[in-house]
Amino acid sequence: MDKKWWMESVGYQIYVKSFKDGNDDGIGDLLGIHDKLSYLSDLGVNLLWIGPFYDSPMDDNGYDVRDFFKVNPTYGTLDDVKRIIHDAHQLGIRVIFDFVLNHTSDEHPWFVASRSSEDDPKRHYYIWQKGRMTKDGLIEPTNWASFFGGSCWTRNPGTDDYYMHIFSKKMPDLNWANPLVRKEMAKVGAWWLDLGVDGFRIDAVSHLDRAPFEDIETTSRGPVLDWHRFSNLPAVHPYLKEMNERLFKPYGCLTIGEVGGEASIEEGLKYAAFDAEELSMVFNFDHNWCNNLHESDDPDALITDVHCLRRTFMAWQKAFASNGWLPLNWLNHDQPRLLSHYGSEAYPKRSAKMLATMLHMMRGTPFIYQGEEIGMKNYPFTKADEFRDIASIQQLKTLERDMPDVNQEDLVRIVAKTSRDHPRTPMQWSDEPNAGFSGQTPWINVHPDYQSVNVRQEQLDHRSILAHYKQLISLRLSSRYQDVIKDGEIRFLDLDDPDLMTYLRIGDSITLLVINNMHDIEKTYDLSPYDTLRVVITNHDTPIIKDHVLTLKPFESMVFEVKEHL
Ligand code: GLC
Ligand code: CA
Repeated sequence: MDKKWWMESVGYQIYVKSFKDGNDDGIGDLLGIHDKLSYLSDLGVNLLWIGPFYDSPMDDNGYDVRDFFKVNPTYGTLDDVKRIIHDAHQLGIRVIFDFVLNHTSDEHPWFVASRSSEDDPKRHYYIWQKGRMTKDGLIEPTNWASFFGGSCWTRNPGTDDYYMHIFSKKMPDLNWANPLVRKEMAKVGAWWLDLGVDGFRIDAVSHLDRAPFEDIETTSRGPVLDWHRFSNLPAVHPYLKEMNERLFKPYGCLTIGEVGGEASIEEGLKYAAFDAEELSMVFNFDHNWCNNLHESDDPDALITDVHCLRRTFMAWQKAFASNGWLPLNWLNHDQPRLLSHYGSEAYPKRSAKMLATMLHMMRGTPFIYQGEEIGMKNYPFTKADEFRDIASIQQLKTLERDMPDVNQEDLVRIVAKTSRDHPRTPMQWSDEPNAGFSGQTPWINVHPDYQSVNVRQEQLDHRSILAHYKQLISLRLSSRYQDVIKDGEIRFLDLDDPDLMTYLRIGDSITLLVINNMHDIEKTYDLSPYDTLRVVITNHDTPIIKDHVLTLKPFESMVFEVKEHL
């Protein structure tokens, strides 16, 4: 295996709007990120993924790009971007940016031109189709729904046809079948790489190809969401091979593709096996669905399905063991907060540390999402006007239409279960007003627990969640265990256990035994097959071991260096 710098990295994801407000207007920005570089360096991470900060009308917080080469003035200037890259590099921290390939804003000059006339040179930069005349009048080209609700087609009165958008109607999809689009997007990437950025997280990369435009069979009248019609389809691969040849390979940059739409492991390998010549790694989402979140009405009644998590991690780790590399992340800016999802509000510290250990001890490149390292939780949304996320607002509108008999409080509760606003509440820096995020009222509410859950407080406590993350990072990057943690073989154990996630990491001379109790019960674990040499990291003061049996408290996690008897 060719060692790459990003295999020796621990990443940290920054959602710009919510990280730190540097100029006190209530909105996170680039200055704020710059101010916090020393915090990140002290945490020990050496790779930052910074979300989109490009010029944008902000329909989807900047994933709707109006100008790929300009910085959104609310976030700062190009000089601020350069300063972040430069000063991060000085600290030994690499930086990657979001690169949005699938769509632009409808205010991007390409789209403004494209929609203006059927003869415009930019016409085929986007996906246009005629509507269908039925006895009820003109209808959309297909009955496909977009991810954010409603049809994925919007009519353009000027040309009397429809453009496609798998996200919001202000985010028209680029037509990747057009070689000119591919060339332009490679230019965008080169421009930022020339500026010194080390690579990209590639947004929504699995959606660049479309199935034939045929209706989805259904009995319902409205549009139907079937993401298979625009996810992981064959032409994505030649497009990415071309981008790799033209852009990624010449610059030797890191590329991590977001592969939604249920990318299978085989598909994952097509994108990111070492010999795929497409991407360096892919973020998949399979581990995000391993509890009863979607079935349960009570956020306190979530139960982690350990079998599901084990099956998922095991399958991806195994498939990529010799032929690829994986990012390791629990969540991002679209997912519930980790502690509220798989952790326990009754045991916040212990469960957050256990979850961190479970992930960070695997093979791959860990990514921490801002606030995860201090145990931030889901926000208790109770009112419709607390939501900011376009997908949540759309979902609420759809529910109001489809469930007219249900009161709004209950509808808000449904949206709150999975709202993308949970991970977007301001980062909690201190117990000062607005959690030290800003001197002004922030654009989205601060979580009410900020007086006890915040960076400053945890920095003073050597047993905090933050301290545990620091310890995990230094174990991976600078301890005698670094080789085995980065690249040792991983062997999952106790495959039938409903509560424990256990695995071995086997290196040339060191073996680690990782034991995580994922449930709110006490468990015992038989250590007799091992000589336990020492405790590497734990979330509990002293292990309780008697006659080679370890007693684990709820959510306890232990990593031992061991010698195997077998
Ligand atoms: C990705 C982003 C998400 C965004 C979407 C459209 O899924 O993570 O936040 O809304 O792409 O760009
Ligand atoms: Ca600001």
